[in-house]
Amino acid sequence: MTESAIRLEDVHLTLGQGATAVHVLKGVGLAVGRGESVGIVGPSGSGKSTLLMVLAGLERADRGLVEIAGTALGPLSEDALAAFRGRNIGIVFQSFHLIPNMTALENVAVPLELAGRADAFARAEAELGNVGLGHRLRHYPGELSGGEQQRVAIARALAPEPAILIADEPTGNLDGETGRQIADLLFAEQARRRMTMVLVTHDPVLAARCRREVRVASGLVAAPRPADALSA
Ligand SMILES: Nc1ncnc2c1ncn2[C@@H]1O[C@H](COP(=O)(O)OP(=O)(O)O)[C@@H](O)[C@H]1O
Ligand SMILES: [Mg+2]
Repeated sequence: MTESAIRLEDVHLTLGQGATAVHVLKGVGLAVGRGESVGIVGPSGSGKSTLLMVLAGLERADRGLVEIAGTALGPLSEDALAAFRGRNIGIVFQSFHLIPNMTALENVAVPLELAGRADAFARAEAELGNVGLGHRLRHYPGELSGGEQQRVAIARALAPEPAILIADEPTGNLDGETGRQIADLLFAEQARRRMTMVLVTHDPVLAARCRREVRVASGLVAAPRPADALSA
């Protein structure tokens, strides 16, 4: 039996405290198979980014099951969770989240070095070459275009060879053509490395490139539309 890459059952999460507390996730269930690509769509404020944070182990569910690559995240200590995330999950954000005073090479290599990889810089150089940035290793993020910055972020996410890649509106800050190139890169790497990929997007064309679309509305995964159910 092939176990799920991702399994969520009845996941609840409230963010904020007191008067600003928001019950964001209200019983989310989701199962994603190994090597599958899932596009998460839904209105702004519906809880898509929060859902990704929970999948990535960056936010802990208040209740419910979050199981990634066969491991339930709930019982893990903070250190164990951080180590698990580093080994298994790559994350790409809309606004790149590069460290501005580090070069492209350092942005990719330093997390590997912190994880104890002796070959951090060689590996980072290879990953940057792979995303087409072999000629920009010593540039700082401020000296790179948006598309180039996102390529650095993708190289950083891929460098530890994660089983699962999570992307939150990865093309949201890019023009149409650059966004398409970044999407091409993500799907090519997903296929080549046989990764599971979950991405949030407002772009229906990008969502449709995923094997499956999942709609989030008001903190819940909405029932599949009839067309989705038929093609499932
Ligand atoms: N730290 C927080 N404290 C309180 N409310 C939050 C916090 N983070 C997000 N929210 C609220 O949770 C809801 C879902 O946010 P989010 O997951 O970012 O939605 P989406 O990515 O679908 O636009 C929004 O109403 C947002 O205001
Ligand atoms: Mg969001």
